[in-house]
Amino acid sequence: MQLVVKIGGSLLYDENGHAHLDKIRGLAGALRAVMDDGHQLVVVVGGGRPARTFISAARALGANETQCDWIGIKVARLNAELLCAALGEYAYPKIVEDLDELEVARHTGRAVLMGGLIPGQSTNAVAAVAAEIVGADLLLNATNVDGVYDRDPKESGARKLERVTVSELDRILSGGGTRAGEYRLFDPVAIRVVGRSHISTVIFNGSDPTNILRIVRGEDIGTRVMPDG
Ligand code: UTP
Repeated sequence: MQLVVKIGGSLLYDENGHAHLDKIRGLAGALRAVMDDGHQLVVVVGGGRPARTFISAARALGANETQCDWIGIKVARLNAELLCAALGEYAYPKIVEDLDELEVARHTGRAVLMGGLIPGQSTNAVAAVAAEIVGADLLLNATNVDGVYDRDPKESGARKLERVTVSELDRILSGGGTRAGEYRLFDPVAIRVVGRSHISTVIFNGSDPTNILRIVRGEDIGTRVMPDG
C-alpha cells in the first residue's frame, strides 16, 4: 500500500520540552517495520511544543500570522529531520519542501519526510494534500489522544467515536483556532481535502508506536473518518 503517516509534533517531546529519544526511536522502528512489510511511506511531522514556543515569542515581538506560520513550517521540518536521522537508510535524505520535490523523492522507494508547506494551514493539511497527490490507500494520523471524541475529551462524559463522517468531524472541530500554532486535530483544509478525495483516514494514539503497524495490518484502532453519504 501507499501510505501517508502524519506524526503529531506532540509525540516527539516530553513535558519539559526535551526530545523524547525513545519515542522517536520507537516511531522510526514502527515505520521501518511497515516498509519491511512492503509498503511505501510519506511521513509528515508536526511542529509540537518547540513550534509553539517560537511562535509565541515571535508574536510577542510583533511578527504577523504569516511570519508565525513560517516559523511553524520550519520547526516542523526540523522535527522531520529528527525522524529522518532515526530512520537512517530507510529515509530519503532531504526533507521535502514542495509538491514537485515530493513526486521525485517518492520514486526512490525510500520514506519521504515532510514538515510544513505553506502558511494558513497545519501539517494535517500537508498530510491530506500529500495523500491526494500520491493516491494514498490510507492516511494515518498519529496524535496524542485515542481518537476523535464527541466533545472535548477533557469534559466528563466525552465518548470516543469508532467512526466519524467528514461532516461530523468538521462540526466537532468547528470553533478550533486557525492562528499559527493553534490548530486542533484537523484543520479546515485537511477536512476539505480528505472529504473531496474520499481519503481513508484513521486518527489514533501514536504514543504507542506499534499502533501504526497494527493499523496497517488491519486492526481497528482509533477513529475512522468515513466519507459522507
Ligand atoms: P502543526 O500545527 O501541524 O503542529 O504545525 P502541531 O501544533 O505540533 O500539531 P500536531 O501536534 O503535529 O498535531 C505547527 C504550525 O506550523 C504552521 C502553523 O502555524 C501550525 O500551527 N504551519 C504548518 C503552516 O503554516 N503551514 C503548514 O503547511 C504547516
